[in-house]
Amino acid sequence: MDKYAVIGNPVAHSKSPQIHEAFAHATGQHMSYVRLWAPIGGFADAVETFARDGGRGLNVTVPFKLDAFAVAHTASDRAQAAGACNTLRRDADGWYADNTDGAGIVRDLTVNLDVPLAGRDVLVLGAGGAARGILVPVFAERPCSVTLCNRTAEKAQALALHFAARGPIVALTSGALAGRSFDVVINATSAGLAGDVALPWPAGLFRPGSFAYDMVYADAPTAFLRWARAHGAPRSSDGLGMLIEQAAESFFLWRGVRPETAHIFPMLRPAR
Ligand code: ATR
Repeated sequence: MDKYAVIGNPVAHSKSPQIHEAFAHATGQHMSYVRLWAPIGGFADAVETFARDGGRGLNVTVPFKLDAFAVAHTASDRAQAAGACNTLRRDADGWYADNTDGAGIVRDLTVNLDVPLAGRDVLVLGAGGAARGILVPVFAERPCSVTLCNRTAEKAQALALHFAARGPIVALTSGALAGRSFDVVINATSAGLAGDVALPWPAGLFRPGSFAYDMVYADAPTAFLRWARAHGAPRSSDGLGMLIEQAAESFFLWRGVRPETAHIFPMLRPAR
C-alpha cells in the first residue's frame, strides 16, 4: 500500500489524516496516511527515512515549509515563487515540491463561497509565509489589484517587488489603508491568534458585498472574523475550506485523481 503522511511539529492536532482517508475511500485509492512528528532540525532525516520505508508523499506543516522546499530536487512554479512547500511527492529522482495553499484558498473562495477574484480589489494582510504561499494562484485569477499591508512595512514592500511581474501589486502601511476599501480582504497574519491583541487595521476596509477571509480556522469565529464583522464586513469565512481544498490539490498531485470535497465539510464542521 502506498504511504503518505503529514509531517510537522506539533502534528497531533492535524485534521489531514481524516481528510485524506475520506478522499481515498471516496476515490477507491489504496493508500495509508498517518501523522509524522519530526524534531526541529531533523526534517531532512525524517523525510529520507520515510522515503526509504516506501513513503510516496507528504503534506508539510509548521514549522517545516521552508525545510521542505530545501530538500526538494525540483519544484513547481508556485512553490518556487512562494519559496515554501506544503506538499512533497517522491519521484524517481527525489522529492518534487509543490505549494497547494494558494490553489486551496482560490478554490474555496471562487467555487465554494462564490467569491470571484477576477476584476476585484484584493487586500492581503500580512507578508509572511502564509501571504507568499497564495499570491501566484491569486494573480492567476486576474484581480484588478492586490494590496499588501504588513506591520513591518519593509516585508510587504519586498514581497510586492518579488511578485511585481505577476500582476498589479502595491504595498501600503496600515495608516495608508485609511479611506480605502476592498472587495476581498484576506487575513494572512497570525495577529490575534493568541486572542490578546487589538487588531491594527483601520475601519472602512469593507464595501457592500465585500468578503473577509481568514486563512486560519477554528471552531468558534476567529479574532479577525469578529473584527471584520464588527467593522462592517457583510460576508466572511474562516480557512476550513482552504484546508480541505489544499488537501484535495495535494491528493490530485499524488494520485492523479481529483476528489470531491463537499462531503468533507460536514465531517469536520457539522454546522457549516
Ligand atoms: P506565516 O508563515 O504564518 O505567515 P510568519 O511568516 O511568521 O508566519 O508571518 C506572520 C505574519 O503575521 C507577519 O506578516 C507578521 O507581521 P510582521 O512581518 O510585522 O512580523 C504578522 N503579525 C503577527 N502578529 C501580528 C500583530 N500582532 N499585528 C500585526 N501583524 C502581525
